[in-house]
Amino acid sequence: MSRSRIVLMLVVGTAAIGIWLWLSPPRWWLNYMKPVDLTDSVSAGQSVIAKYACRKCHLIGGEGRAKGPNLGGVTDRLDPVSLRLWLQDPRSIKPSTPMPNFQLSDPEIEAILSYLYELDSTSD
Ligand code: HEC
Repeated sequence: MSRSRIVLMLVVGTAAIGIWLWLSPPRWWLNYMKPVDLTDSVSAGQSVIAKYACRKCHLIGGEGRAKGPNLGGVTDRLDPVSLRLWLQDPRSIKPSTPMPNFQLSDPEIEAILSYLYELDSTSD
């Protein structure tokens, strides 16, 4: 095989892997790309919620916009497994939802949940 053929195959292969990781990233890749220090998971959750602008659509701790449901009390309404599945991929549960898939890593999801559980435990 000629040298330029090999180079071409490497370029195409690398591009294909890049497109795969970008369009449908596997969880290990998300976890590698978006680590979160969970030492203080509640304030880590606050930062993640700010990073993804969840308050553009949700009231969280009474702040934000009510385009989507108020997340106050959400940890009482939904069980932990449903909450995690929802945050991993909202459209796999409700295809018509306007909530995007933020490609959240597992520690980002854990941080968000710590914060939501904390809010629900202190608000009533
Ligand atoms: C573009 C608007 C939008 C954004 C941004 C958004 N959401 Fe949502 N979310 C919704 C809507 C709308 C629903 C209700 C599901 C439905 O009926 O489509 C929802 C549902 C939820 C639910 C389930 C609530 C329930 O009572 O069933 C959780 C939890 C949630 N969102 C968390 C988040 C988090 C965390 C973020 C930020 C990472 C976020 N959302 C960003 C629109 C949004």
